[in-house]
Amino acid sequence: MKVTVVGAGNVGATCADVLAYREIANEVVLVDIKEGFAEGKALDIWQKSPINLYDTRTVGVTNDYSRTAGSDVVVITSGLPRKPGMTRDDLISTNAGIVQSVTENVIKHSPDAIIIVVSNPLDVMTYAAHITSKLPRTKVMGMAGILDTARYRAFLAEALNVSPKDIQAVLMGGHGDTMVPLPRYTTVGGIPVTELIGEQELNAIVDRTKNGGGELVKLMGTSAWYAPGSAAAQMVEAIVRDQRRVFPVCVKLEGEYGIDGVYLGVPVVLGKNGIEKIIELQLNDEEKQLLETSRGHVKEVMDALDKMTAKA
Ligand code: NAI
Ligand code: 2OP
Repeated sequence: MKVTVVGAGNVGATCADVLAYREIANEVVLVDIKEGFAEGKALDIWQKSPINLYDTRTVGVTNDYSRTAGSDVVVITSGLPRKPGMTRDDLISTNAGIVQSVTENVIKHSPDAIIIVVSNPLDVMTYAAHITSKLPRTKVMGMAGILDTARYRAFLAEALNVSPKDIQAVLMGGHGDTMVPLPRYTTVGGIPVTELIGEQELNAIVDRTKNGGGELVKLMGTSAWYAPGSAAAQMVEAIVRDQRRVFPVCVKLEGEYGIDGVYLGVPVVLGKNGIEKIIELQLNDEEKQLLETSRGHVKEVMDALDKMTAKA
């Protein structure tokens, strides 16, 4: 299996590293626009192979998409990350231009690839990549839900003093402050989380999760990369190994949850064809309301992108 990762920065290089050392692909091609940058990162990862014992071939190129030809999966991380004080939506115009041109280049050389978008604002960049690619919606998706759920699970594991491995959870909606964690669908070793933690503490964890990206931006001056890179690699693994994992993934909704034409995180089955199935949960009224707020926010940013594109 061949996987291309576009953007050799913090998230892209981390993703390529995980793909390599876990031998998720036979070949990983890292692409960046900055001269020599991807070549250097790929060489460093390759030189780690005798130490960490893997044989995934990692190659880096500067903007040369011919080297990405025939990729099975492409992860797009190119774009600017958030700086303190910026929202994900502030990145819209710059990153949309980057994501659209990258998608055109990717599709030219790998018309059958499955695309995983990571660049922010995530839901709207997934929209930009999807319309540019002209691929079916099952083959163009965004990574955010696995990361947001991981943050939620990690905070819960810490509060309950249990292994994060035993926390199962699902989260829906856009990647931003309007995301919708679902305590009703959260379990700890099969036990409903509400039996183990008080409402106030759980609400505080939900709030911390919603601001999880911003918390790291404040601490580091740029956005996170270890968990985001690993989350994208986990999606690649589910596809190339046809694992049929159940993950929250951003996809264009076409009537599911009563929503049409908006890109939102929902639980899906991920396998060799990309999104094999969208799972529709029976949400209660409060959860429906939260999802509607999230839908409204993502739609506003989609409309803003449409206006910018129409003016250009
Ligand atoms: P970074 O700045 O470390 O890396 C971005 C890389 O993209 C740079 O090396 C840059 O040279 C490259 N690039 C820019 N234009 C390009 C083009 N046209 N072609 C190829 N490469 C190009 O940023 P980082 O931290 O890796 O973040 C990348 C993106 O991922 C950001 O938009 C960030 O907001 C987003 N992100 C999304 C997350 C999610 O959950 N969806 C989580 C974390 C970050
Ligand atoms: C994150 O959630 C900023 O989207 C980025 O870390």
